[in-house]
Amino acid sequence: MTLLKVDNLKVHFPIRGGFFRRVVDHVKAVDGVSFELQQGETYGLVGESGSGKSTTGKAVVKLNDVTSGQILFEGRDLAGLSRKEIKPFRKDIQMIFQDPYSSLNPKKRVLDIIAEPLRNFERQSPAEEKKIVQDFLDKVGLSPESIHKYPHEFSGGQRQRIGIARSLTLKPKLIIADEPVSALDVSVQAQVLNFLQDLQQEFNLTYLFVGHDLGVIRHMCDRMGVMYRGRLVEEGKSDEIYENPQHIYTKRLIAAIPDLEPEVRGEKVKLRKKLTAEYESSYSKFFDEDGRAYDLKPISSTHRVAIL
Ligand SMILES: Nc1ncnc2c1ncn2[C@@H]1O[C@H](COP(=O)(O)OP(=O)(O)O)[C@@H](O)[C@H]1O
Ligand SMILES: [Mg+2]
Repeated sequence: MTLLKVDNLKVHFPIRGGFFRRVVDHVKAVDGVSFELQQGETYGLVGESGSGKSTTGKAVVKLNDVTSGQILFEGRDLAGLSRKEIKPFRKDIQMIFQDPYSSLNPKKRVLDIIAEPLRNFERQSPAEEKKIVQDFLDKVGLSPESIHKYPHEFSGGQRQRIGIARSLTLKPKLIIADEPVSALDVSVQAQVLNFLQDLQQEFNLTYLFVGHDLGVIRHMCDRMGVMYRGRLVEEGKSDEIYENPQHIYTKRLIAAIPDLEPEVRGEKVKLRKKLTAEYESSYSKFFDEDGRAYDLKPISSTHRVAIL
């Protein structure tokens, strides 16, 4: 079943200039993106910084205004809804942010942080609320006494768990995870990722997983879309993209992944040189005269590539 269908999404931000602060131009942060998420799957959006991944994720929860296009959640178009009209859907779609240091209010206790989304929707007695919060703390591996503490009393990995617990209290169907481990120490990244996978099983969650690290995306995602300058350049099953990339940008992104083994490193340098030459000689096959990617075209039932 299709849970989310994003169709030709555009998010353009005005750039103002001059004395009168008139709109002089637009940043086309997202410029014609389409993809679908099936219920229960993890779909990754991957690309370099500034390619429009976060703007796409935020548009789905209306943290950004949508310039045009459709965002169909269980068949209902959210794109045209006002912030008020979207409120009932906030229950179903939650977001986990990148930075566990700034995304939790430092002045609030963990009880209030985790209970906040709940309070927006349902009235519980303080005792019921405390029990719900402690159950979720337990699910994310934190002690029940944590409810009395403040964010600064926890490590980065623990804070991200608090953010995750907070996103789960309303039993959402879709979670948008925007670089959820990028700000964490490498040593705790895998732990948090595995834990997100366990929660997916337990709560039957669908994830839109945003990241710049192709290794992480491949590990987490059934399918992925590769973004470049506000457009998707390639989409397919994660292994398919990783092992058989077709777009020159995807190939270069994969070749840029650092390697620890010296022998591989030498090979990679050669590969990158080859790809740079291929990029120059085949540019017009992959980008129009404005440097924009073409629309995606299917090359198999699961694999789409932006090619002339
Ligand atoms: N609120 C905003 N106003 C103006 N420009 C923005 C805004 N948010 C993002 N952008 C711009 O949109 C582009 C895409 O940003 P973003 O979606 O954050 O990329 P990513 O998450 O892939 O790093 C960037 O050029 C960024 O500067
Ligand atoms: Mg981002």
